[in-house]
Amino acid sequence: MALLDVNDLRVRFETHHGTVRAVDGVSFSLDEGETLGLVGESGSGKSVTNLGIMGLVPSPPGVVEAGHVLLEGRDLVQMSDAQLRGVRGNEVSMIFQDPMTSLNPLLTIERQLTEVLELHRNMTRAEARRAAAKGLDEVGIPEPERRLDQYPHELSGGMRQRVMIAMGLLCEPKLLLADEPTTALDVTIQAQILELMKDLQERRGTAIILVTHDLGVVAGMADRVHVMYAGRLVETGPIGPLFKDPRHPYTRGLLQSVPRLTGDPDVALDSIPGQPPDLAALPPGCSFAPRCGFAKPTCELDRPALDLIPSQDSRSSACFETENLLGESDQ
Ligand SMILES: Nc1ncnc2c1ncn2[C@@H]1O[C@H](COP(=O)(O)OP(=O)(O)OP(=O)(O)O)[C@@H](O)[C@H]1O
Ligand SMILES: [Mg+2]
Repeated sequence: MALLDVNDLRVRFETHHGTVRAVDGVSFSLDEGETLGLVGESGSGKSVTNLGIMGLVPSPPGVVEAGHVLLEGRDLVQMSDAQLRGVRGNEVSMIFQDPMTSLNPLLTIERQLTEVLELHRNMTRAEARRAAAKGLDEVGIPEPERRLDQYPHELSGGMRQRVMIAMGLLCEPKLLLADEPTTALDVTIQAQILELMKDLQERRGTAIILVTHDLGVVAGMADRVHVMYAGRLVETGPIGPLFKDPRHPYTRGLLQSVPRLTGDPDVALDSIPGQPPDLAALPPGCSFAPRCGFAKPTCELDRPALDLIPSQDSRSSACFETENLLGESDQ
């Protein structure tokens, strides 16, 4: 059995502009010890997918419309708030994109970190404080003992982010949802934190969903990649083949817009023309069709399903032209 099985997750927001379908039928599964990289443009639904898994979609305006989120066979969508609280911060933890959403401004850093340890790990206050100080040290925070007695507003943004990472890792979860965990950090700290995540994964078999804009980080961390566009998965597959030979036109655009050290500095990078679509007014056909260089008239009419790519091991793409794009990138 997979550790996590997400089946047809749908999340909408009722807004003044209409119904925003932020996550529109997402399905995937994740094994113990596996790292899934989730990539896609701003607003494509990456964070909301993670919030949906954690049962943390703000409601109102959010509504989880359908779907199952099975953690070792138990459906998180059907759980009561009390049951969910037993799972969160214990079996599953999330590193949020915005540190202030998960840090309580009224509690000291010590209290933020030790609460889960006392609750779920049966530690005494003194043991939990020692573990918290070690956790801060591991994410590169100097003078951890002094920091434990401070409040979030006394820390810099990068430090707050690291406190949140320490919080996410301290309970050694089975599943870690890491939403842009290292974006605002220096590269050396970033590397240290990615190592910590890998180390936890090796010791505990933790599965990780890593959301990031940094395709280099994805390349170094992920086993599989999911590419999201307008609330749906448009391409999925093992990292190597997907990066080497992307099959969905959107994935191609995404990869071609990344600068390479070996590239010719005088050659302009390709960018994807146009804007991400308005999720409250999606076109009837493929959401990417209006920006796609490969689009045919049918693409504007029907929506392509995420189907397995013939003769490609466990790769899928949601594009009518997938087969016509075969080997295109080799030419
Ligand atoms: N609380 C909310 N109320 C209304 N709409 C929301 C809310 N939260 C998210 N959305 C909408 O849901 C869509 C998906 O947002 P999400 O935060 O998942 O994007 P993302 O892929 O994480 O983007 P980014 O890369 O910028 O973090 C967006 O259109 C966003 O405006
Ligand atoms: Mg986000």
